[in-house]
Amino acid sequence: MNAAQPLIFTFVTPPRLVVGWGAATDARLVAEARRLGRKPFLVCGKSLRAGGALTTILANLKDAGLKATTHEGVPPEPEVEDVQAAIVAAEASGCDSVIAIGGGSALDVAKAAAALAGKGHTAREYFDGAAPVPESGGLPILGVPTTAGTGSEATWVGVFVDRAGRRKASIRGGAMLPAVALLDAQLTVTCPPTVTANSGMDAFVQAVEAFTSSGANPLTDALAFEAARLTGQHLRTAYAEPENQPAREAMLLGSYLAGAALNTSRLGLVHGLAHPVGAVTGAAHGLLCGLLFPPVLRYNADVSGLRYAAIAREVGAHDGDLLTFVESLLRDLRIPTRLSEVGLKAEDLDYVAREALPSGSTKANPRPVTEADARAVAESVL
Ligand SMILES: [Fe+2]
Repeated sequence: MNAAQPLIFTFVTPPRLVVGWGAATDARLVAEARRLGRKPFLVCGKSLRAGGALTTILANLKDAGLKATTHEGVPPEPEVEDVQAAIVAAEASGCDSVIAIGGGSALDVAKAAAALAGKGHTAREYFDGAAPVPESGGLPILGVPTTAGTGSEATWVGVFVDRAGRRKASIRGGAMLPAVALLDAQLTVTCPPTVTANSGMDAFVQAVEAFTSSGANPLTDALAFEAARLTGQHLRTAYAEPENQPAREAMLLGSYLAGAALNTSRLGLVHGLAHPVGAVTGAAHGLLCGLLFPPVLRYNADVSGLRYAAIAREVGAHDGDLLTFVESLLRDLRIPTRLSEVGLKAEDLDYVAREALPSGSTKANPRPVTEADARAVAESVL
């Protein structure tokens, strides 16, 4: 930010954060759930039951006298219809609170259901902008991430796909903000390597974009810089040594801090482009963030060079060059470098550029972006 400008910003973050290895499967999660209600609606993806954690968590809740209704199997890159299904199920359950456990997809669906259940609108009406997401009055949310990636447990944002309209867009509002976030890095140990790589790149990119966004302020800077340091330093180790506790803990805290920053700072052109490319190709969000990072670093270099260099020094880039560091990291994580490798075609570029422009992320990019600029950046890595 420019020191000569007046300092005006709003900062929003979950009021309570609980951090602890093993906390999700012992009495600590139950204690947090009890603070919010007696009939939780528990939303999760497929992996939670497969990994065995869901059975333990449900038994612990039952032992404490809580009547949980589970809503399992939220798919990756969820669609508007997945939100609608969760709203209907939450309303039918008679729940008084929501426990959201999973990657960004499960967390986003759970947060939307908590905010929108019982409000008399369909998920599509919110997605199309026909109804505003309420600022308050939703069910209280306990957010428990199982990947170090989106930081969704720290934000009031959810990203959803409209397959028919080939769109991917976010909805946001105060009622989607978790009341409590619980970070148990032990849950991330069973992540497959590709999920660790992709979601970890999402966290690192979010940290860097939040740190350099036009919406950044000194408070989000402090969070985003630490998020970039933690994720940039530890992603390689978390990927190569899945059971490395310090690396897993650093990644999960880093992704949370990036979420807490981007909630109000917003992001940048990587995210502006990743959403339409994801809508067209179905490729994983974190993979696209990694793939699109180098060309956006090049595009922003003149405006954000000093901030990129500050991060490069923290993450141990030998020559102080963030671009070189990122390119080497992407190679180690086996993330592709060309959009054609994930199925994007030259004839999709106009659409991608057009869809990237109205995105709040693109608008917050440190260097202004025209449609031609967005197209050129994507084309440079086709
Ligand atoms: Fe992201």
